[in-house]
Amino acid sequence: MERKKTIFSGIQPSGEITLGNYLGAISNWVKIQNEYNCVYCVVDMHAITVRHDPKRLREQTLDVLALLIACGLDPEKNIIFIQSHVPQHAELTWILNCYTMYGELSRMTQFKDKSAKNPDNINAGLFDYPVLMAADILLYQTDLVPVGEDQKQHLELSRNIAQRFNFLYGDVFTLPEPYIPKIGGRVMSLTDPDMKMSKSDPNPNSKILLLDEPEAIMRKFRRAVTDSEAVVAYREGKSGINNLMAIYSAATSKDYKTIEAEFSGRGYGDFKTATGESVVELLSPVRTKFNELIKNKDYLTRVYTDNAGRAAALADRTLEKVRKKVGFVKKENKNA
Ligand code: TRP
Repeated sequence: MERKKTIFSGIQPSGEITLGNYLGAISNWVKIQNEYNCVYCVVDMHAITVRHDPKRLREQTLDVLALLIACGLDPEKNIIFIQSHVPQHAELTWILNCYTMYGELSRMTQFKDKSAKNPDNINAGLFDYPVLMAADILLYQTDLVPVGEDQKQHLELSRNIAQRFNFLYGDVFTLPEPYIPKIGGRVMSLTDPDMKMSKSDPNPNSKILLLDEPEAIMRKFRRAVTDSEAVVAYREGKSGINNLMAIYSAATSKDYKTIEAEFSGRGYGDFKTATGESVVELLSPVRTKFNELIKNKDYLTRVYTDNAGRAAALADRTLEKVRKKVGFVKKENKNA
């Protein structure tokens, strides 16, 4: 039997999860949970590279964990855990630091952007962020990493670090590749449909959050930017309508032809209402499940504890090899 491939992704506990993250990534992760070994890590250690509120970090870490499960990711089929619970991430980061060049890290565009935005807090962790990310990925012998445009350079660096290490010591790390889902396009901003829907957009009307109340969802769709043509058709130059059609299609599984026929001769008002309702229907089970899970702290604790244990067992296999290769004396008291 062919070995199942491993997918790894890290999810920031800062900010909220949007409809774009759901349609573009998470809903696909739910579909592939039998086909791949999937490892999802809530990256609280990455989150402290910028100034943050500790209380919020603690809440948001658990929120993201609960939300991933509420979206349908099964914590027994997948490994869903909290990064700081698996200290192997920090340990491998240190070792990989010694195989990563200052020049390489200086060229990371995200580092340059973030340091320009936070000139008072250009800390070593921010600089080293991509090495922690490389450790995340390489610990699990990851084959595939779902990444957006903004993380491509970091993934490329992870490959370079892995290659450099393998070149010196033999095949220790699997070289990760970007994972591009077969379907599921980009969801655009509702207020500026030429830009991606982004959780960091300060305008709340631009984005649908997974935990938005139905009234908020309907209101945001009613206000969505369209055009003045009043024809529901998927065409160049109609980015607002194209975006709503893509969302409606993803939520209802109707194709564009069917949608065009359904709304032919009807105004945008009807179409926006239908799209809003389809999203309310899509997200309401997620919201219900989330509200249930977040109250059940015992269950969540059990899930993140078990999953951290499963992650650590895998991580240790890689780390043992790495320690040996670099010449660390073997720890003999393990599990004694
Ligand atoms: N840096 C990623 C982001 O900001 C999060 C992340 C951390 C990640 N470690 C990862 C993504 C490993 C993929 C693989 O979105």
